Amino acid sequence: MFELLPDIDCNLCPRLKDFINDNRQKFPDKYNAPVPSFGPQDAEFLVVGLAPGLKGANFSGRPFTGDYAGDLLYATLLKFGFARGEYQARKDDGLELVNARITNAVKCVPPQNKVTGDEISTCLQFLKTEMATMPKLKIILSLGLVSHKAVIKATGHKQSAFKFAHNAAHDLGNGLTLIDSYHCSRYNTNTKRLTTEMFEDVFEKVRTLLS
Ligand code: URA
Repeated sequence: MFELLPDIDCNLCPRLKDFINDNRQKFPDKYNAPVPSFGPQDAEFLVVGLAPGLKGANFSGRPFTGDYAGDLLYATLLKFGFARGEYQARKDDGLELVNARITNAVKCVPPQNKVTGDEISTCLQFLKTEMATMPKLKIILSLGLVSHKAVIKATGHKQSAFKFAHNAAHDLGNGLTLIDSYHCSRYNTNTKRLTTEMFEDVFEKVRTLLS
């Protein structure tokens, strides 16, 4: 069995390792390391993002925390009862996830917010371990195409059998359903590719499937 999280000085992706090292020099008081998943391991619901944002999750050490995308994600998790407390964009804000966990397809911050195919493939071992160590896992919510493809690959399915579509539900077998959403990024929300209502519809579906 692989580890859940890359080593703090993980060397598997040289480009990402170099970027983290640069950022450790530039921002020595920030987290700057592979970002661990957040939330209880016995959750039924797993949200899979893309990768930490430089000044958000990479600075705070918690997925989506401090990233623009986190504002909508955490607000929606709170609204649908998958979180309790108050999201304050800090790892120590006391926010708790309820029956939900958040991870990223790639655990380290990439330059220009862009991951390579090799980095996704290399980091896949951690996503596989994540799924394998969530005994009650029923629903995976992929935020964006990269996450969707990583989940399809991690579960050993053919990409051609599961096309990404916003708010689509894919039966992956073994009681596991994959739901797709456009990523809640600043670009997607500013351009209205993803509205709050569209994102909430996805969570409505998750809630219905879990009840
Ligand atoms: N922050 C994350 O942790 N993941 C994303 O996909 C985007 C921002």
